[in-house]
Amino acid sequence: MTATLIDGKAFAAEVRQKVATHVTRLRDENGITPGLAVVLVGEDAASQVYVRAKGKMTTEVGMNSFEHKLEADTSEGDLLALIAKLNADPSVNGILVQLPLPAHLNEDLVVNSIDPAKDVDGFHISNVGRLGTGQKSMVPCTPLGCLMMLREFHGSLSGLNAVVIGRSNIVGKPMASLLLGDSCTVTIAHSRTKDLPSVVRAADIVVAAVGRPEMVTGDWIKKGATVIDVGINRIPAPEKGEGKTRLVGDVDFASVKEVAGAITPVPGGVGPMTIACLLANTLTATCRANG
Ligand code: GUN
Repeated sequence: MTATLIDGKAFAAEVRQKVATHVTRLRDENGITPGLAVVLVGEDAASQVYVRAKGKMTTEVGMNSFEHKLEADTSEGDLLALIAKLNADPSVNGILVQLPLPAHLNEDLVVNSIDPAKDVDGFHISNVGRLGTGQKSMVPCTPLGCLMMLREFHGSLSGLNAVVIGRSNIVGKPMASLLLGDSCTVTIAHSRTKDLPSVVRAADIVVAAVGRPEMVTGDWIKKGATVIDVGINRIPAPEKGEGKTRLVGDVDFASVKEVAGAITPVPGGVGPMTIACLLANTLTATCRANG
C-alpha cells in the first residue's frame, strides 16, 4: 500500500468533541441546549439505522434529540403540519426529514417547507441557491465532510484539478460548488461522460459518488491523487459464507490504494464525517438563531 489512509472515523470523533465542548459552553454561559428534530416516514430499514445513529450521536454531544416516526401512509398535509410545528418551536434548531420519502409524498415540497435557517441538511432551495452563489448557507453534510477531510489533508486546495463523479443534488452538485469555492478547477463527471477513465486520470482530487460498487479502479487514478469515496454499497460476499454481504465503496480500494497518494476507506471514511457535520450544522444553526 502506498496511499495514506484518511481516517474519517478519527477525524469525525475530533469534530464531535469540538461540537460537544461548544454545546457545554452554550449551556453553561447562555442556558441554551441545541435541539435536532429528525423526521422518519415509513419503515425503510437503512433509514431506520441512520436515524438511530443520528439520535445517539446527537445526545452524546449534549444536544436534545427529537425523533418523529410517522406511518408510511402519512398524508402530505400531516407531514407539512408537523414541519410547521417544528419550524415554530424555539427548542428545535435543526430539522432533518430522512430521505427517501414514500412515493406519495412530494420530496421537493416537503424539503422546501422547512425553515431554511433550520435546514441542517442544506437541501432547501434557498440554501442550494446561496451555496451556488457563494453566500452564507447551510451546507449539505456529506460534501461538507469531504471538504473538511480534503482541507485537513492538503491545506490549500487552490488550483488543484478536482473531478466529482456523480451529479446528485445531495452530493455531486454541492461538492462541486464547495470545491469551486476553494478555487479548484472542477469537473462534474457522470454516467454519460465520454471516456470517464481519462477524465478521472487528470484529477488531483477524485470524489466518487455514483453508487456503483468498486467502479473506480487503480488504472483510472493519477499517481499521488487524493481519492474520497462517498459510496456505500452492500455486495454479496460468498467468501464469508452463504448469504453474507460486505460494504464497499464506489472505489476499488485494493487497486486504487497502490496508486493514490491518499484515500478514504469504506467503512470509516466519509460516513462518520456526515453525521459529525450534521451536528456541526445544528450547532451553527443554534448560534445563528441566538445571535
Ligand atoms: N438519506 C440519505 N442521506 C441523507 C441525508 O444526508 N439527509 C437526509 N435527510 N436523508 C438522507
